[in-house]
Amino acid sequence: METGKYKAVVVYYSLEGNTKKIAEYMSSKFDIDILEVLSRKEYPRYGAKKYLVGGLDVFKKVMPEIEDIDIERYDAVFLGSPVWAGTFAPPIRTLIRSGKLEGKDIHYFYTHKGGAMNASSRIEECDLNIVSTLSIANVEKNMEDIKPTVINWVNEIINKE
Ligand SMILES: Cc1cc2nc3c(=O)[nH]c(=O)nc-3n(C[C@H](O)[C@H](O)[C@H](O)COP(=O)(O)O)c2cc1C
Repeated sequence: METGKYKAVVVYYSLEGNTKKIAEYMSSKFDIDILEVLSRKEYPRYGAKKYLVGGLDVFKKVMPEIEDIDIERYDAVFLGSPVWAGTFAPPIRTLIRSGKLEGKDIHYFYTHKGGAMNASSRIEECDLNIVSTLSIANVEKNMEDIKPTVINWVNEIINKE
């Protein structure tokens, strides 16, 4: 998407595919570039280990290595993360700490299972220019209901530019 000089990109991390689904939907509907944050540390996808390993990394504020991404030419980032233990996933912490999001308008969307707790205020503590946030619950069950919400959110953002 390019309106005048305002260039936007969707940047997301997704372990189990929910955030990816939203990111891809957004990108395809609005023709916005899309980049996936890839963690070099492999997080378990199944069983209790999934919650233990991921949850512990959140608690310890671990910053796993991620593949390099180039977002320098964009002014705005639709930043997507799953909620892990009430906040963004560790690979997103790494991205934030890389400084690459600084100075950009950040539109933050996060997927969860209904227990987002204070996920939006957690990202607001990160010294980013958070312009708007979108909380998305239960993508697996509600994708059809979620679609219009996503469309409205992005439309509002685009129309303000
Ligand atoms: C380590 C871990 C911690 C999680 N913590 C929460 C949580 O605190 N609240 C919640 O509602 N869902 C929690 N979930 C569920 C995910 O937020 C939810 O399934 C999300 O949509 C997954 O996104 P993804 O498919 O893009 O990885 C957690 C999942 C994992 C793996």
